[in-house]
Amino acid sequence: MFIDTHAHIYTEEFDEDRDLMIMNAFNQGVKQIFMPNIDESSIDAMLEVASKHVSCYPMMGLHPCSVKENYKEVLDMVEKYLSTQKFYGVGEIGIDLYWDKTFTDEQIEAFRRQIHLAKDLDLPFVIHSRDSLDLTISIVESLQDGHLKGIFHCFNGTPEQAKRIMDLGFFMGIGGVITYKNAGVAEVVADIPMEYLVLETDAPYLSPVPFRGKRNEPAYILKVAEKLADLKALSVDEVARKTTTNALSIFEV
Ligand code: NI
Repeated sequence: MFIDTHAHIYTEEFDEDRDLMIMNAFNQGVKQIFMPNIDESSIDAMLEVASKHVSCYPMMGLHPCSVKENYKEVLDMVEKYLSTQKFYGVGEIGIDLYWDKTFTDEQIEAFRRQIHLAKDLDLPFVIHSRDSLDLTISIVESLQDGHLKGIFHCFNGTPEQAKRIMDLGFFMGIGGVITYKNAGVAEVVADIPMEYLVLETDAPYLSPVPFRGKRNEPAYILKVAEKLADLKALSVDEVARKTTTNALSIFEV
């Protein structure tokens, strides 16, 4: 059994064949899918998928790339949703300094506020840290009081950064990038203990080889698991078992 800890399967890329795609993933052994939210425009679609598919679990949060002038109102909305219905985590949240640095201060503020929300609700949170891994780690370090738990999604850091994440008691999300030649991620991940790794696809983005450039979907998590099994000299079954155990220690379902 596999768990996809990060898939945006509510986006329009799946409008034509969503039910079939989810069934296919399920038949391939992907029994649970966790859906990070993006912003106010994605909530309805995400909740609709969650209501139709019992094994697809919604999270609530504001993605750093969607932090704009109105972010405070959106965060009020996020907070309201979290207090009125069941979500399985806060996400995805964090800082993205790759696309646009205009709202860096606001991104930091939104990240901190959402970590506090997660803490108050005793929920895990999922961190997006593109070009901001040291900064996001530092913020979590400054707030970790033993009650924070979560995943650094799409981990692509150094061994030193991996160590800081492990010291925080956090996990690293491993996806399609691990199958890319020259990405450098595989070499680092090879030395990280399995106890700190979970699988993810980030569907519809970041498809693993041999689907690179095409739409990604949860069924392709097998390609990520095969690569990880290779790196760790484990069987795919062992990778499935260990990463599933880790995911279930983060998310309460
Ligand atoms: Ni994502």
